[in-house]
Amino acid sequence: MMSEVTIAKTGTPGALPDENVLGFGTHFTDHMFEMDYNPQAGWHNPRIVPYHDFSVNPANTTLHYGQGVFEGMKAFRTKDDRIVLFRPLEHLRRLNRSADILCIPQFDVDVVHNALHKLIALDQKWVPAKQGTSLYIRPFIFATDPYLGLRVAENYKLAIILSPVGAYYATGFTPVKIRVEDKYVRAVPGGLGEAKTLANYAASLRAAVDAKKVGYAQTLWLDGVERKYIEEVGAMNIFFKINGELITPALTGSILSGITRKSVLEIARDWGLKATERRITIDEVYAAHSQGQLEEVFGSGTAAVISPVGELSWQNNKIIINDNKTGELAQKLYDYVTGLQYGAVADKFGWVEEV
Ligand code: PLP
Ligand code: COI
Repeated sequence: MMSEVTIAKTGTPGALPDENVLGFGTHFTDHMFEMDYNPQAGWHNPRIVPYHDFSVNPANTTLHYGQGVFEGMKAFRTKDDRIVLFRPLEHLRRLNRSADILCIPQFDVDVVHNALHKLIALDQKWVPAKQGTSLYIRPFIFATDPYLGLRVAENYKLAIILSPVGAYYATGFTPVKIRVEDKYVRAVPGGLGEAKTLANYAASLRAAVDAKKVGYAQTLWLDGVERKYIEEVGAMNIFFKINGELITPALTGSILSGITRKSVLEIARDWGLKATERRITIDEVYAAHSQGQLEEVFGSGTAAVISPVGELSWQNNKIIINDNKTGELAQKLYDYVTGLQYGAVADKFGWVEEV
């Protein structure tokens, strides 16, 4: 396979958006990365090209059967004007793990990692500087077979697009209200839950609509069988601080293995906190609250960073956490993680890569 990435620059660079009103995922940079797969050549022709529309055959298998996977990671502009990526290899390896679950052929992580550096370097003026903003990186793979029969596709495209973003939640770094879903399920054991794949996000939409109608930002998923073990939130993993101990649901195969989750666990343990991965029921959380032991709840994710949860609602039973204020630990973790990302904290874990 030819693995040297080629670069074709745009002749019509776009205007940079206003950093104060970026929102999430609405602006796109001048260039993108693409690479194709077919059974004869394998993954081939890695290239950086001007951002462009795809032309898709109406019988495209991903449109019909959802054989696709994606990632979400970020590049940051540090205070001293360097551009850094946060744990990009972890994200690319997870993309390959998701691909494996969806029967998509593995790609060479080094080729894509190298191309990603080149793409960010080329579009570096698009990395915003304001605190809390970043360049969201969306690698994705989809099948390109024009075929209506149900089977594993033979041809694929891997692409990376870039989007300058602000905070994921319109409210910024303030406690969010989360509704515990008791009608719908996101994933079941043996299903696709741990893959970052289209179907899991499609499965989340109805519940999100219902939650929004009654004023909640996202859904907290319970396990799909017993409907009592806590899994994760729509776009983040979840942590509970109960009686001094930090607890997050164990990776049982139906939740995404978050890279921010992994980072939070490593940081918390490094700080000497007891940080546990285990199954935890919603009953246990409500019981801890009624005993005055539920100190904090927060989510973790690339888009969401650390998001304090101020209110949970389960079967119309609401609990307010920490007086609806950002908890001490959530604040400390947010400051530390964003400190690593914006260069204010020394990178003792080796998680930050300069472009
Ligand atoms: N869970 C889901 C369903 C997500 O979409 C995300 C975001 O990517 C996460 C958890 C958090 O994962 P990470 O920290 O790797 O971004
Ligand atoms: C992330 O990349 O953090 C996501 O959760 C993806 C998306 C749902 C915003």
